[in-house]
Amino acid sequence: MSTGLFLTFEGIDGSGKSTQARLLAETLRAEGREVVLTREPGGSPGAEEIRKLVLEGDPDRWSPETEILLFTAARRDHMERTILPALEAGKVVICDRFADSTRQYQGASRGDRRALVDALHDLMIGREPDLTVLIDMDPAKGLARAKGRQGTEERFEDFGLPMQEAMRAGFLTMARAEPQRFAVIGGDAEPAQVAQAVLDAVRPALP
Ligand code: TYD
Repeated sequence: MSTGLFLTFEGIDGSGKSTQARLLAETLRAEGREVVLTREPGGSPGAEEIRKLVLEGDPDRWSPETEILLFTAARRDHMERTILPALEAGKVVICDRFADSTRQYQGASRGDRRALVDALHDLMIGREPDLTVLIDMDPAKGLARAKGRQGTEERFEDFGLPMQEAMRAGFLTMARAEPQRFAVIGGDAEPAQVAQAVLDAVRPALP
């Protein structure tokens, strides 16, 4: 049995969730807690290699099924090497994206493959976060922010606004289905204000 706390951040591209994950880690560390801040896809050496395979190159580089396998393979490695050891050591794990991203991006963006995503998750991962912070954001604003960043990683941003809108709706539907696991925070306010709302949501769950 693990004794740590497993927190994930989710949201559409450009929602500011990565900034919020970092701010939360800084605040909790300043309180003297042991925090592991990590991300998906990635978070372990092997999973970071898989990240390059799935986030760079042509949007049709992988079939939807292959893509689900790659994200799940990366997650399995990340669980084995980074997340579970940290939880067993009693640490707070803050993960920027996790299985809910696969449920949305691979489960819903190119046809309905949610059942496949869930079956593979049950078989190979078998664990949910203790708390998931969903940073909710207007997709047009999120996309403008995400596109403003330079870089080679934009496979999913490349799908454009309609997909971001569908992703937002999908995340909110998941949050409504599991209100005990999700905290939904508006991402439109100033980062410091959003950070305070995140902290208020996380505080009761801390060990
Ligand atoms: P991320 O690095 O969090 O980018 P951003 O900060 O722009 O949100 O995620 C990179 C991309 O990976 C993002 O477009 C969503 C996608 N992704 C999936 O499609 N499936 C997954 O399971 C995960 C974890 C991410």
